[in-house]
Amino acid sequence: MEPLERYRPIIDDFEAFLEVCQRPLGNAVRVNTIKASADRAVATLEEEGVGFERADWNPNVIRLETDSPGSTWSSFHGFTHGQEEVSAVPPVVLDPRPGERVWDACAAPGGKATQLAALMDDRGTVVANDSNLGRLSALRFNAERLGATALAVTNQDARNYSLKPFDFDAFDRSLVDAPCSCEGTIRKNPDTLDGWTEEHMHSVAGVQKGILRRAVQATREGGTIVYSTCTFAPEENEAVVNHVLETEDCRVREFDLALEHSPGVTEWDGEAYDESLERAARIYPHQNDTGGFFVAKLEVSA
Ligand SMILES: C[S@@+](CC[C@H](N)C(=O)[O-])C[C@H]1O[C@@H](n2cnc3c(N)ncnc32)[C@H](O)[C@@H]1O
Repeated sequence: MEPLERYRPIIDDFEAFLEVCQRPLGNAVRVNTIKASADRAVATLEEEGVGFERADWNPNVIRLETDSPGSTWSSFHGFTHGQEEVSAVPPVVLDPRPGERVWDACAAPGGKATQLAALMDDRGTVVANDSNLGRLSALRFNAERLGATALAVTNQDARNYSLKPFDFDAFDRSLVDAPCSCEGTIRKNPDTLDGWTEEHMHSVAGVQKGILRRAVQATREGGTIVYSTCTFAPEENEAVVNHVLETEDCRVREFDLALEHSPGVTEWDGEAYDESLERAARIYPHQNDTGGFFVAKLEVSA
């Protein structure tokens, strides 16, 4: 828990935050609307006798009273996909439309890429990329199980992603669900902070800046980008977006989010960030009894 102490100045009710971070996280699934409506998925869970509660903010997110959400009939049929509740937020904020071209720059193992395809009624193209070849097999397995046919898989370093294989020169929307120090997953992986170092945090922030810059360049004018991480460090969140505001033509946009959250920070460790970063969302574990996430929405300037 020690690395989390550095966030005491920016987290309201810090003791409640620490207390919840020490409690294990419950299981949640997302309804895969490519294969089933939320009502059908819920009926399947009821028939199987699995207890559940639907999330207020999103009827397609269901909290399950089972330790093995991947072993239910509803999961076997591809009606549901095990996905942490807050992990379902970034695709909803990106808000892709059927028929669009959408890039998921860091997609494996595919929870959000398949959610993007579902939000698009499986029409259009989701290019699901990841630089880690080993993780792509899980992504392909999930796409097949969930019936996401609008999804193409690529294996490139997103920092210098080439659009040459495509017959278009920009995406309509891009998601950068970046590699990060994963502090917000502490409830699921209690040893996640064991190897925490400032050096690692700064090194991963360099990768994040490179990927987000490329996403802005690869998205059409007026197009939308969502940047997300499952970590609390402003160095990996607001500082990354701030860097991209200074180097690329884009701006931070407001968005509605029905989950309790805090605004992005505009000052940290002697650094000041653009005021518009207040429009980002910091979702802390004690606010909704979930994991932690950071989400920012950007628009490429016309
Ligand atoms: C937070 S995970 C993505 C989770 C995924 N979006 C999901 O919802 O299932 C970050 C991913 O970024 C990938 N990654 C790391 N560096 C990358 C790079 N330079 N280019 C593309 N992907 C990268 C990692 O292999 C990892 O799979």
